[in-house]
Amino acid sequence: MRSDKVRQHFNTAAQAEWERLDSSEYFRLIYRLHLAFIEEELAEKPRVLDAGSGPGRYALEFAKRGCAVTLCDISDGELRLAEEKFGENDLSAERFVQADLRDLSAFPDGAFDLTVCYGAPLSYITEDREKAVSELVRVTRRGGTVAVSVNNTWGILRNLLGKTDENFFANGEYWHINEVIETGDCPSFESVQFGGDTAPEKHFFQPDELTDVLKKAGLTDIELGAAPCLCSGSRSQYNELAENPAAKAQIEELELKCYRDKNMVGFGDFLLAKGVKI
Ligand SMILES: C[S@@+](CC[C@H](N)C(=O)[O-])C[C@H]1O[C@@H](n2cnc3c(N)ncnc32)[C@H](O)[C@@H]1O
Repeated sequence: MRSDKVRQHFNTAAQAEWERLDSSEYFRLIYRLHLAFIEEELAEKPRVLDAGSGPGRYALEFAKRGCAVTLCDISDGELRLAEEKFGENDLSAERFVQADLRDLSAFPDGAFDLTVCYGAPLSYITEDREKAVSELVRVTRRGGTVAVSVNNTWGILRNLLGKTDENFFANGEYWHINEVIETGDCPSFESVQFGGDTAPEKHFFQPDELTDVLKKAGLTDIELGAAPCLCSGSRSQYNELAENPAAKAQIEELELKCYRDKNMVGFGDFLLAKGVKI
């Protein structure tokens, strides 16, 4: 039932999802930091699973770099758009597979060198999340890398402050703020952001919590990051500053210096994490 709701939500959001990561300098910065986080792994031209691929912004980049890419997502609408985008770019993927991350039985053990689950698919899984993480690890070969990004409690609140969204802050119950801070769990709510639609329930992570989940699933050498880091919460200011190419380059350099700092990783809109399969 719940996965149906997520699938339906993303089926109607495919085009918006495609546009999101290229919609402003702020989102392009988020995109570049996600790629920077796995730059070393991508240099090896790995076999990649893009799990929760959406319309394939990251998968397309992996394919452009010569990786053999497989996409999977619970939303058939997102996957259809991804196929179109691959066609338009004259690129091919190994497979486009509709699947729930909690059941990746379409793939054998150890099928991928790198499994990427970016843009918070795990935050949309509110039941049996551990099963999803263990599936991501199962389909990755020993010594391979699993990289994820999830939504982060403090980072998302900073982001909302930066949007100066009165609908949000003038109504304490609107987004169950206290519940989210205490448990990380945000129940389904009427969303202004989604045009009055009901937003699916979500889980927001803290860095220690995500590290534990990944370790329990069989990953070691966990590294964390924030995307964006310094700029989280300053969306419009960054967009304005980035109109000046020198300022944009300087800020990006600063972001790259700090986004993996252990004191900063809990403050991004997205919490990045990667680990090596034992
Ligand atoms: C915010 S989008 C991110 C898409 C893409 N990875 C990106 O960063 O642009 C989250 C994606 O996770 C997918 N998703 C959510 N729950 C899922 C599940 N249980 N199994 C597979 N995919 C899921 C959604 O359908 C959606 O395409």
